[in-house]
This record gives sequence, structure tokens and C-alpha cells, in this order.
Amino acid sequence: MNRHAETASLQGWRLFSLLSLLVLIVTSLALWYQPQWVEALRSAIRTTARTSFALFLLTFLASSLAALVPTAFTRSLLRNRRFLGLAFAFSHAVHAVLILLYVKFFPDTFWHGRTATANIPGSIGYLFIILMTITSFPAAVKLLGARAWKWLHVTGTWVIAGVFMLSFYKRLPMGSWYPLGFALIFSAMLFKLTAQLAIRLRRNAIEPSATH
Ligand code: HEM
Repeated sequence: MNRHAETASLQGWRLFSLLSLLVLIVTSLALWYQPQWVEALRSAIRTTARTSFALFLLTFLASSLAALVPTAFTRSLLRNRRFLGLAFAFSHAVHAVLILLYVKFFPDTFWHGRTATANIPGSIGYLFIILMTITSFPAAVKLLGARAWKWLHVTGTWVIAGVFMLSFYKRLPMGSWYPLGFALIFSAMLFKLTAQLAIRLRRNAIEPSATH
């Protein structure tokens, strides 16, 4: 099989299935490596937050990368954006299941130093993830109308980016990889805004000559 055929086969639902399988494998390894259940759950929660973050960044930046750095790879990212987004939702569903197990079996450790208010941003993030997932099918665009669909997906994307930024920001004093995570999401947001501005300027530069 040549390289192009190989890349072509890693698309759509096949790509989604492979990414979801990878999420399940790394989560199982994270659970398996820790001898204590509580630490195993916490480690798997962190692992799924990181797999979600990687998948989210690809989804979040797909259109900006394709516009500013058009290559075969970035165009393929954009074509597969829906499946990358669904793989992110899958990874975050695993994050949610592990959190529920953590709360059920180790409530004291979970609530130690945590208030109910601290769960609000993440819960709003989950509300958008659910709404975006169930409306990610072509029939939903017809049902909602293009304008409402776009509002939901644009707003949801920025809300989730905000929740990642807040999660890393809260953990900055812990050092480790959190400053890098924060820098990555912050730069991704700036890059996306810059790309949107560049696309608008490009469109404005083309439109006057097209109308005359
Ligand atoms: C869109 C929603 C959410 C996002 C984007 C998100 C993201 C994150 C991130 C970035 C981390 C840090 C991972 C690391 O250590 O590298 C994390 C950890 C964690 N998240 Fe979430 N989260 C979300 C929702 C929630 C919700 C609603 C809860 C609980 C009600 C929650 C509970 C936790 C816990 C307990 C940890 C830390 C585990 C530990 O270190 O002990 N998350 N999450």
C-alpha cells in the first residue's frame, strides 16, 4: 500500500475507532500501573484529561491550520475534524466515568479541598460536549438550522477551551507539566483568533474586486 492510500484509509469512523481504542489502552495502562485503587483512578483521570486535550487541540485548530498552513496533512485534519471531535468526546466520556467512580468509591478524597462551585465550569463544559455530540450528525444541522447549529458549536468550542485553560491555570502552582499545558491552550486560542482575522482580511481583500 502506498503512503497516500495508507493515509486515505485512516479517515472518518476508522480514525475515530483507532483513536478511541488508543484512549482505552492508555487509560487501562494508567489504571494497571498504580497498585492503590484511589491512585489508579486519579492517574487514569489525569491521563484521559491529557488524551482529551491532545484531541481537542487538533479539533480546535484544524480550520486555522488548514487556512494558514495549507498542506495535505492540515487539509486532512480539517476533513476529519468531526471525527477528531467525536474522539475527544469519547475520551472525555471516559474522564467522566472515572470521575463518577472516584466520587462513588472515594468521596472523602474527591471532596478534600474541593467545593461544589469548583465543579461548575467543568459541568458546563460537559453540557456543551453532550449537546455538540448529539448534534454532530448531518440531520441535526437541518433540524436546528445552520445559524443555531453554528452558534452551539462555536460557543461550545470556546467554552471547552476556557475550561482547559482554567484547569491548567488552577494547577500552575503545582509546576510539573501544567505551565506547558497552560501555554499550549493559550497559544492555541491566540492562533485561532489570528487565523480568523487573517481569513476575514483575505475575504475583504477579495470581495471588493469581485463586486466591481
Ligand atoms: C470540559 C470539562 C472538563 C475538562 C476540560 C477537564 C480537564 C481536566 C484537566 C486538564 C485536568 C488535569 C489533567 C492533568 O493532571 O494533566 C483534569 C483533572 C481532573 N478533573 Fe477534569 N475536566 C473537566 C471536567 C471535570 C469535572 C466536571 C470534574 C468533576 C466533577 C472533573 C474532575 C477532575 C479531577 C478530580 C481531576 C484530577 C485528578 C487528580 O489529579 O487527582 N473534571 N481535568
